[in-house]
Amino acid sequence: MKDVIIACDFNSKTELMAFLDQFQGESRKPFLKVGMELYYAEGPAIIREIKARGHQIFLDLKLHDIPNTVKKAMAVLSALDVDICNLHAAGTNAMMEAALEGLTRPDGTRPLLIAVTQLTSTSEERMQKDLLIDHPLEEVVLHYAANAKAAGLDGVVCSPLEAGKVKAACGQAFLTITPGVRFADGEVGDQVRVTTPARARELGSDYIVVGRPITQAADPVAAYQRCIAEFLGGEAK
Ligand code: C5P
Repeated sequence: MKDVIIACDFNSKTELMAFLDQFQGESRKPFLKVGMELYYAEGPAIIREIKARGHQIFLDLKLHDIPNTVKKAMAVLSALDVDICNLHAAGTNAMMEAALEGLTRPDGTRPLLIAVTQLTSTSEERMQKDLLIDHPLEEVVLHYAANAKAAGLDGVVCSPLEAGKVKAACGQAFLTITPGVRFADGEVGDQVRVTTPARARELGSDYIVVGRPITQAADPVAAYQRCIAEFLGGEAK
């Protein structure tokens, strides 16, 4: 089910709630991404409050630790009833398998679990020199995506420009969650390789993560609706 996820990169509950209040009259409740900044500032209570308002949540905490610790941490996040969680594929397949176990609730349901491959802030040069990973960056990204698939995960975070290659390697059902989205007539900001919502759809993105083009817009609700219309086209309800 394709959707637009708003990156709620706010550092307090006050700012978040002022933003969400603008959507209160809307029939479509936006899917929200909560990252480390807001989660560490406000704790799990912020997740419960957002869920109570009827939003789906992608909790972007990018776990990476020993398998047992990640398994237990994922069980805590799963009990918060979030819809998508993530981790670093660099934690190994054993860590990803343990994470899935921890995430699975007693009734067999679980949030989707998504892997980060290489962060887009990591250049090929830094990966090779700092991490001693002596392969082309794209090969590493696709290898980590294949590991995530083998461990039973649902997809990866990647650029819309990589979504086709990930799907070719891991299958069409393997999800791609893609940031770096901008309107054709909008500010690019610090993102380097950007695509429009419509182009992201053509390239095979399942979920686009959009922050500032919506959160910093003069009319955030209109910007969100534009994003939905461009990304979902005729599928928008
Ligand atoms: O404001 P903007 O649309 O650039 O926000 C994009 C969101 O996606 C931010 O929360 C950013 O941290 C996240 N992200 C990204 N690139 C990645 C992974 C996550 O921009 N490779």
